[in-house]
Amino acid sequence: MIPDWRELINKLERHGLDAAEFVALLDWAQDAEAYTAILARAADTARQIFGNRIYIRGLIEISSYCRNDCFYCGLRRSNPQACRYRLSEEQILACCEEGYQLGFRTFVLQGGEDAWFDDTRICRIISAIKQSWPSCAVTLSLGERSRESYQRLYQAGADRYLLRHETADSQHYRLLHPPSLTLANRMRCLYDLREIGFQTGAGFMVGSPGQSKQTLAEDLLFLARFRPHMVGIGPFLPASNTPFADQPPGSVHLTLFLLAVIRLLLPKVLLPATTALGSAVADGRAQGILAGANVIMPNLSPPEVRQKYAIYDNKLTSGAEAAEGLRELKQQMQKIGYQIVTDRGDSPDK
Ligand code: 5AD
Repeated sequence: MIPDWRELINKLERHGLDAAEFVALLDWAQDAEAYTAILARAADTARQIFGNRIYIRGLIEISSYCRNDCFYCGLRRSNPQACRYRLSEEQILACCEEGYQLGFRTFVLQGGEDAWFDDTRICRIISAIKQSWPSCAVTLSLGERSRESYQRLYQAGADRYLLRHETADSQHYRLLHPPSLTLANRMRCLYDLREIGFQTGAGFMVGSPGQSKQTLAEDLLFLARFRPHMVGIGPFLPASNTPFADQPPGSVHLTLFLLAVIRLLLPKVLLPATTALGSAVADGRAQGILAGANVIMPNLSPPEVRQKYAIYDNKLTSGAEAAEGLRELKQQMQKIGYQIVTDRGDSPDK
């Protein structure tokens, strides 16, 4: 007999679920009443912990060069159509200056795995940011590096690191990546990061090719085990000139459901309503907040490079998605009963 969703949610909140129970819970996404109730419960849980406060992070896309060849990503090495750029240290600091004026107190340096940004350069940038804006948090999202490298970045003052696990199923991982990339190394990175002391973020795409309820159950079991401080999820969106260019996009409905499940699984987690969600549907980020998300990461990159950081097609880069569009974002959030705040927004589990 199919377990009732109320029982599954109660068990999820109390002791967690096993793989079969997660699969059963994911089946309930198709039931309109269960879906609505689970999203509302997740939003309620977020409100109990964070009130109606939404944290913002200024996202600076520092390089579109990447040594990797992930099948889903528009910035993969073997995409000759990708526009490559890298920001100078001065440009990155200018982004932070603008962001600080706008009210950002977290800067996220994100980029492809670009060897030009070696430890010396990244550490110099982290130190410069920390010196100029000591009240701000620095988050890095620069892919897989050695433990020693992560250690240096932490010592230089970086606070947080985002590295999506992409999928916790090793067979699925191999379907999404070339053989040079392994789930084992991704996991090594995540455990190193957390041991070193970073507030650590994991996450995955929803609807990536080869994903199933079983692989999603593995993702949720991994999150339950690892207990990351942050979880980034968004729909898979096809990118031109990649092996997955013709694959269907991930479902927004399922993404929202998973946001809610993750909120109920890890009540205190920092959970962004991602750019991919905002790019997939017009009010995606507001819907994400109403499903339990509590973070938004507007784009602080120099406007002339934003279109070049094309991990998928039709990425949102203007309006409320842009850091300058903060006023619009504030209004969107007010409309649904939330307010943008400008504290660092550290993990309550720090
Ligand atoms: N669609 C959606 N998300 C993507 N990412 C990379 N390519 C795509 C895509 N085509 C996500 C990955 C990566 C993060 C930076 O962006 O999960 O970790």
